[in-house]
Amino acid sequence: MTDKTTGAHGSVREDTAPDGDRPLIELRSAGKSYGNIRALHGVDLTVHPSKVTCVLGDNGAGKSTLIKIISGLHQHTEGEFLVDGEPVRFSTPREALDKGIATVYQDLAVVPLMPVWRNFFLGSEMTKGPWPVRRLDIDRMKRTADEELRNMGIVLDDLEQPIGTLSGGQRQCVAIARAVYFGARVLILDEPTAALGVKQSGVVLKYIAMARDRGLGVIFITHNPHHAYMVGDHFSVLRLGTMELSADRGEVGLEELTNHMAGGAELAALKHELAQVGGVDTEELPEEGDLQAPVAATPEGKS
Ligand SMILES: Nc1ncnc2c1ncn2[C@@H]1O[C@H](COP(=O)(O)OP(=O)(O)OP(=O)(O)O)[C@@H](O)[C@H]1O
Ligand SMILES: [Mg+2]
Repeated sequence: MTDKTTGAHGSVREDTAPDGDRPLIELRSAGKSYGNIRALHGVDLTVHPSKVTCVLGDNGAGKSTLIKIISGLHQHTEGEFLVDGEPVRFSTPREALDKGIATVYQDLAVVPLMPVWRNFFLGSEMTKGPWPVRRLDIDRMKRTADEELRNMGIVLDDLEQPIGTLSGGQRQCVAIARAVYFGARVLILDEPTAALGVKQSGVVLKYIAMARDRGLGVIFITHNPHHAYMVGDHFSVLRLGTMELSADRGEVGLEELTNHMAGGAELAALKHELAQVGGVDTEELPEEGDLQAPVAATPEGKS
């Protein structure tokens, strides 16, 4: 397990690390084109240890493209990508993982019929005994998975149950605990709350906060400004492949964030159209200024 990282090499410019924390990850004017489709352009993003960086944006805004660059699935075609202050260009997700960058995808690469503990170690199984009779160390894997999940406050009745029988929220939590156990320094979560109800979303947000408190730099991709605002330290809003807003928590309220996401003017136009259709109570739609930022909505454990 890695603590708060200070990295081993490279130097960081003063202006990129005002709080003294060396950024784990930095994108500078980064972009990506697929052939002649420009999916991302001129994006700046910084990820610090013990901070949650939220990336918001509508469908097709470029969120997945952005995390694919960071997680080694795609390469940027413009700008710079630095890890621990060093320019990098990953050819495979393995290279990103070796730098401590773990990604939890929305569809979660789990095998639904395999037990929870087996999924926890999928691809990195513990073994015992000498070659050529090495075999899986099942007891140690079960014990470790149980300990690690409990450490994160995740209590499951039975680790033998197929992971497919867990709720979506629980599966996300297992994936977060797994990334923490395998030494992630940067945890990327692609829309972990998108398919979840209110309560389960709350549970996942709690583990995002817990990963942050353990010193990880978290990149939280979401459509939902409310979820982002509950745990976020920094907010980056993508729109049509460029960064429309990049602001620290102190610089932006929930209301403004929501407006950026909804596209204030577009929402007003939609409201106008709906009013003409009839049958929709447009009074129920939010007005600008209706949305109150929650007071100190940061989850427990944060100063
Ligand atoms: N492999 C690809 N080849 C060509 N174009 C692509 C490819 N992947 C993404 N794009 C395009 O890049 C743009 C950004 O897509 P991306 O998947 O990054 O958006 P997103 O913000 O993740 O959207 P969503 O919320 O729907 O997941 C889109 O216009 C998409 O059509
Ligand atoms: Mg996407």
